[in-house]
Amino acid sequence: MTTWKPVQNLTIWLMMLLLCSNQLRAQLGTTPNIRHIVVGRCYSYITLVSPSLRFDCEEMWRRFEEAVLRQSSCNVTVENYQQMFYSIPQTRPCDRFLFWSKTRSLMQSYKAAVRDSWTLEDTLVGFLFNDLIWCGAEEQAGFDFSSCPAWSACRNHAVYSLWLQASQSFAEMACGNITVLLNGSIANAFDRKSMLGSVELDHLNPQRVNYVNIKVVADLQGPFIESCSQGSIVDLIHILQSRGFRWTCSDNDQTLMILQCLRDPKQSVCQTYANSLSHRQSHIQLNHTQV
Ligand SMILES: *[C@@H]1O[C@H](CO)[C@@H](O)[C@H](O)[C@H]1NC(C)=O
Ligand SMILES: *[C@@H]1O[C@H](CO)[C@@H](O)[C@H](O)[C@H]1NC(C)=O
Ligand SMILES: *[C@@H]1O[C@H](CO)[C@@H](O)[C@H](O)[C@H]1NC(C)=O
Ligand SMILES: *[C@@H]1O[C@H](CO)[C@@H](O)[C@H](O)[C@H]1NC(C)=O
Repeated sequence: MTTWKPVQNLTIWLMMLLLCSNQLRAQLGTTPNIRHIVVGRCYSYITLVSPSLRFDCEEMWRRFEEAVLRQSSCNVTVENYQQMFYSIPQTRPCDRFLFWSKTRSLMQSYKAAVRDSWTLEDTLVGFLFNDLIWCGAEEQAGFDFSSCPAWSACRNHAVYSLWLQASQSFAEMACGNITVLLNGSIANAFDRKSMLGSVELDHLNPQRVNYVNIKVVADLQGPFIESCSQGSIVDLIHILQSRGFRWTCSDNDQTLMILQCLRDPKQSVCQTYANSLSHRQSHIQLNHTQV
């Protein structure tokens, strides 16, 4: 478990989480029914999620198999996936890109609330491969459904390489205002070894990105370890500045705090919100009665 933890991150922590859970499941083999899952998700995406997309799901699967099954399972590089990635259409919903690290569950509430945010999991590749495991069987030309190597055992793990390429493409596509959600309750909130720190940041393009809006969120009960002016987030800001990005940083975003309070209303800081919200509500009622 060095640079790998979970994957998915579909933007980072996502990645991180995925990696973590995959590591636990490392002894497991390829996800059963993977072909049906991936091709099914693909049809679901082009039919329901993004009906304007023209895309050949069977061809995509063929390229995926080519990438994975032609090499030993620890020897699948980013380059092996290139043919598959070339065939995948890219959408660029500017001003909606959301990057995150170690804030997975808050990110999910945020996405549910701020509907137009776009993470790696929303891209076609992220959508297709989220939570799946795969590796080729060394001897036969097929997937190994009984066991796959652990992340740590491989230099070029088949699953890792796909997420690496996916994160890189995601960051390259980013445009307009982008949001970065970081965890203020841990040291090293901006971790150079995370997908965000090691891959995505390096592939953001200052010519296309208008503002990097950083939001640091600590747990309501603390600890309060990092902030816009403290810890690794300061390093992130320096890196952004030196590369010519415009940025903002907030460590008391109201929307995020309300989302946290919705889950845990008993926290004392939430009482303040509750009071002001019920105050507002009584106003509304009052106006109703006036009408
Ligand atoms: C890994 O792949 C490269 C290029 O595809 C190949 O030259 C090399 O022999 C492979 N190594 C192993 C251990 O399979
Ligand atoms: C921050 O990280 C800690 C430790 O992983 C986690 O328990 C907590 O939920 C995270 N906080 C936020 C706001 O994501
Ligand atoms: C982009 O971010 C900047 C700084 O936070 C803000 O002033 C501007 O309104 C944002 N633009 C859009 C389109 O969201
Ligand atoms: C209620 O009505 C008052 C006076 O008409 C107005 O100032 C106030 O903004 C209204 N409040 C809301 C929540 O609409």
